[in-house]
Amino acid sequence: MTLLEGEREVILKHVKEILDDRGTSRENLIPVLQQVQDKLGYLPDLAMQKIAAGLDIPTVDVYGIATFYNQFRMNPPGDHQFKVCMGTACYMVGGNIAIESFERRLEIREGETTPDRKFSLERVACVGCCTMAPVVLVDEEVEGHVTPTRVDGILLAFETETEKEEGKNGEGIEEKEERRSDA
Ligand code: FES
Repeated sequence: MTLLEGEREVILKHVKEILDDRGTSRENLIPVLQQVQDKLGYLPDLAMQKIAAGLDIPTVDVYGIATFYNQFRMNPPGDHQFKVCMGTACYMVGGNIAIESFERRLEIREGETTPDRKFSLERVACVGCCTMAPVVLVDEEVEGHVTPTRVDGILLAFETETEKEEGKNGEGIEEKEERRSDA
């Protein structure tokens, strides 16, 4: 994933601080990965390369560990996160259909984030609302009985919200310009 402006510096700063604090013993790899993820929300490639260099471990081994444990995420969390329950009850009544609907509409795969970092999609285990299956957590709000049409509705609500925001911003700019031309 492409880094945002200024993100490179932030990654380098945090990785350095954490390595300075933890020391460079190889057995610190997992705690270092955990701490870096806590700070950055995910493990960017650049961070893993720097950790590998700092701990003198081949980069491929750092990737191996990070991808082996599902506590680690390789993609940044989106501004809005969709977590589709794939517990048995949800799976049986269409959890996989819900996840496919999100994948199609967002043009990403489960575990990924849209290039603009607005949305991320992941699967989770039972969230304890099986009577509402299939369930999706939308920014931690529980949505039950999620059909493909409901997925469209959820995304449409976000699109409408964005348009309103952009409209507001646009108005602000126009108003400012009007004020300037009146002056
Ligand atoms: S299996 Fe999805 S909420 Fe329990």
